[in-house]
Amino acid sequence: MARILLGVTGGIASYKSVWLARLLTQAGHEVDVVMSRAAREFVGAITFEAVTGRPVHTQLLDAGHALDHIKLARAADALVVAPATAEFLAKAAGGHADDLLTACLLAATCPVLVVPAMNDRMWAHPQVAQNVAHLRALGYAILEPAVGPLAQGEGSGAGRLPEPEVIAARVARLVAPASALRGRHVVVTAGPTREAVDPVRFVSNHSTGKMGVAIAEAAWRRGAEVTLIAGPMSAPVGAWLPVVPVETTQEMADAVRAALPRADVLVMAAAPADFRPVEPAAQKIKKGAAPRPIELTPTPDILLTTRADRRPGSVIVGFALETTDVLASARRKLEVKSLDLVVANDATEPGAGFGHDTNRVTLVTAEGEVALPLLAKPAVAEAILDEVEARLARQGAS
Ligand code: CTP
Repeated sequence: MARILLGVTGGIASYKSVWLARLLTQAGHEVDVVMSRAAREFVGAITFEAVTGRPVHTQLLDAGHALDHIKLARAADALVVAPATAEFLAKAAGGHADDLLTACLLAATCPVLVVPAMNDRMWAHPQVAQNVAHLRALGYAILEPAVGPLAQGEGSGAGRLPEPEVIAARVARLVAPASALRGRHVVVTAGPTREAVDPVRFVSNHSTGKMGVAIAEAAWRRGAEVTLIAGPMSAPVGAWLPVVPVETTQEMADAVRAALPRADVLVMAAAPADFRPVEPAAQKIKKGAAPRPIELTPTPDILLTTRADRRPGSVIVGFALETTDVLASARRKLEVKSLDLVVANDATEPGAGFGHDTNRVTLVTAEGEVALPLLAKPAVAEAILDEVEARLARQGAS
């Protein structure tokens, strides 16, 4: 894992950096915290030490540690400043180096992520905007403040530190190994779709969206631009992922068709409803009404009906959730739907399929099959993307 240098400057949001340090440590990173003098007025260094298991650095000129900034900066795979106060932005934009953190910033050659947080009026000040623009021009990544309630009853506005989970996801993307997906556009569908029976009832399935979300998050971590087309699903989605919400299979088909002309990769992890009621009732069907059979008609097959919208060289991945003849069905789907890869799984196997946190899949391509062991869904997602990357390189989508 990576070595992260986490700079904490002094704002009311400094306490959130403790949670960020914990998330980064939990993700397996080695986290060295550098605190400004003002930050220590808000949070104790000992808290960070307890969370990271490493000493906290505070002084530029400590007896015996005069070159700490060079050592820390050289060792880091990423430097993250969160929260970054208006004062820090000004000093950084001006190239100052009169404390440990600003000195580290000048000595660092690794990627830098700056996460400003301040009062909304300060954030809106042209001087702050100019400093941020200057830092961007220097090549630093800026994660813009979130909009929401501000400290001291200041109401709501832009200036809040984004949630630590959002910052941690950005850091994961920053330190991810080089990937063929970087800068590519990956479209992922997830969850079920719903087909109305009447205004309060629907036909659907048990898909939770976990597998699709795991793939979308993993692709994003690898540096892809991701579009997640999501049916009504229960799996939580990282706030940093752009989501196109859809309800019906037709809506999902329309969203996929709209996204495909720009897509280098499509992963159809969704379980669209295959049938819809022919005539949904305009009003709620009353319990007292004589029960009638619901006549169903097939919905469009999304992969089939959007084939003409694919970009040449793009990599198209389908799933095959089966209860019998798993591999034969998967091979048939590979051919009929013109896919590059089918992720096949057996819904009857323990720990596989809808709702579980794990999955046991076989990757089926024209060249053959690779059976993976039972894995957590994020690990399955990584294996699928490894195969996607290999094919992307071969097929040369441009
Ligand atoms: N799929 C699709 N459009 C649908 C239904 C499914 O594009 N209306 C996609 C799924 O997202 C999946 C693949 O097709 O990637 C296979 O889905 P699956 O439900 O396993 O198979 P079906 O094509 O529905 O065929 P069958 O019901 O005969 O197994």
